[in-house]
Amino acid sequence: MTTDEISLLKSSFQKIGPIAEQATGLFYARLFELDPTLRDFFHGDMAEQGSKLLRMIGLAVNGVERLDRLVPAARQLGLRQASYHVKEKHYDTIGEALLWTLAKGLGADFTQETRAAWGKTYWLLAETMRAGARDGAANLRRAAA
Ligand code: HEM
Repeated sequence: MTTDEISLLKSSFQKIGPIAEQATGLFYARLFELDPTLRDFFHGDMAEQGSKLLRMIGLAVNGVERLDRLVPAARQLGLRQASYHVKEKHYDTIGEALLWTLAKGLGADFTQETRAAWGKTYWLLAETMRAGARDGAANLRRAAA
């Protein structure tokens, strides 16, 4: 990630702060429209779920500056997500809903450069998490053999 990309991520994420509630509402509505089966994954209070989501995006935004620390944590996180029955394809849907929500929430501020910076960050994180889950599953298979 370049410093320009990181500052685009940070400034655009700050703009989501004041409209956080609407943004998380839009995100889950879009997510469940894209894949209604994902409803089964998210139980409980959606407002609480929404604030978890924003915290997690905030962590990623801050983490991209320290990839050496982010990568091991993301691999572990991917392994935990797999234990919630999260599959590889689900990351595509979450990514699509996330970029769609940012486009809606940021309007004209969601420039091509901003979109590219978010896409790069999300796919980097998602790919690292998927790899962590794949390696974890392979280790379990080896241990059981
Ligand atoms: C880059 C992508 C993602 C990130 C950064 C992420 C991050 C997180 C974090 C930090 C938690 C809190 C619990 C923990 O640490 O284990 C969590 C929980 C969870 N995630 Fe994700 N996640 C991602 C993708 C997904 C995907 C693709 C799904 C698929 C549906 C998913 C479903 C869930 C569920 C069901 C929980 C538990 C929710 C609960 O607390 O009830 N996540 N995620």
